[in-house]
Amino acid sequence: MADTIVIEGGKPLRGRIEVRGAKNLATKAMVAALLGDTPSLLQDVPDISDVTIVTRMLNAYGVAVSSPAEGELLLDPVNVARTHFDTIDALAGSSRVPILFCGPLLHRLGEALIPDLGGCRIGDRPIDFHMDALRAFGAIVDKSYEGIRITAPNGLHGANIELPFPSVGATEQVLLTAVRAQGVTELKNAAIEPEIMDLIAVLQKMGAIIWTEANRTIFIEGVDQLSGYTHRAISDRNEAASWAAAALVTQGDIFVGGAKQQDLLTFLNVFRKVGGAFEVHEDGIRFWHPGGPLKPVQVETDVHPGFMTDWQQPLIVALTQAEGVSIVHETVYENRFGFTDALHQMGADIVVHKDGLESVTRRVPRRKLEQAAVITGPTPLHGAEVEVPDLRGGFSYLIAALAADGVSRVTNLGPIARGYEHFVEKLEALGADFTLEA
Ligand code: EPU
Repeated sequence: MADTIVIEGGKPLRGRIEVRGAKNLATKAMVAALLGDTPSLLQDVPDISDVTIVTRMLNAYGVAVSSPAEGELLLDPVNVARTHFDTIDALAGSSRVPILFCGPLLHRLGEALIPDLGGCRIGDRPIDFHMDALRAFGAIVDKSYEGIRITAPNGLHGANIELPFPSVGATEQVLLTAVRAQGVTELKNAAIEPEIMDLIAVLQKMGAIIWTEANRTIFIEGVDQLSGYTHRAISDRNEAASWAAAALVTQGDIFVGGAKQQDLLTFLNVFRKVGGAFEVHEDGIRFWHPGGPLKPVQVETDVHPGFMTDWQQPLIVALTQAEGVSIVHETVYENRFGFTDALHQMGADIVVHKDGLESVTRRVPRRKLEQAAVITGPTPLHGAEVEVPDLRGGFSYLIAALAADGVSRVTNLGPIARGYEHFVEKLEALGADFTLEA
């Protein structure tokens, strides 16, 4: 894949693109396949590098992964076998998903190894909730010079767990472990993102017994045996929101095939408040800039059903064109505004407050680690040379460059390919003016 894209800005993006299965479900459903004693079929799998990493990890553990048709993965876990620290360290690469192998591997092999975890560099990304949950199930966590080795000499039993924060990954860890643990698990303060509900659907197809209550509580009754599933992944709402922002920023008109209103309700409210137009269709959502000035907003990122942290980066590019002062509070990650430096370089007026800002109109309670970005617009954007820092920040650079006057060089495209399927082809289909460099 090319490492650099040279973009001639100023041309609206127009046309239709498709989003497929969500990165944050597909990779987890692939891990769930380890729990079955027959093969699983996952459909609508996006062609992204995080899926490649999880495929290689599964291969290392003896899972045969093949693609019977475009966008489909057949995952056969019949010959699951142990592997070594060196192998998984080399494979885990830039993904956070490998930590979710723990529960399934403990059930299948009695041992799990945790590699040096990657993922986007958006602040300290601890795994304490994961380790505490595994210990509550009866696992023993040993740290050695090689990494973390987890064993379950006496098997795993149901547990009462309350997460300190509704972490997506830790909720998935509990689900993937509790389904085959002995007895009932009660998980309080769980994350309830649509991708988690879809993972619950996958596990239920496999034979799991899981029910949820309205107050972020999930119950899981362990079963002795799970079989494979056939499942079509929920569509990628983060990718859909990114293309919606691209339409607004470039004054364009994009039909995002596969986008689902239900999973985007909170995003759509903000999109409308900023001045974007959208139309919900059976097979997707059309997003466009209806003309006239954009309006400033105040947004706080939050766990579902709040405004997702992955939506703020492309939104901020649109807010550089709104008339007035917008404030975005990042309350989920402790360092997710690093990407704004390059937007500043392109002409944006963004001031980051590292300890957050007080505000009387907030919905989300203040968190210790939060920051705030104050965006004053409208400021014309001009071309620059910028290096992609992470997945969502990287996409926001692409759309800033597409809206800017003049030429931009965006380097280090790799992190964007972690989660945006065929983004170069999609830019081409939408009429963007660019060339690629190796
Ligand atoms: N946290 C802890 N301890 C833990 C786990 C999490 O303190 O053991 C904290 C994190 O540091 C963070 C907060 O809890 O401050 C939320 O983290 P969470 O566990 O919810 O995030 P994650 O599971 O690591 C997933 C997505 C992210 C997405 C977040 C929030 C995947 C592979 N990643 O991360 O996606 O931003 O949930 O919804 O599913 C992306 O797609 O670009 C991306 C980063």
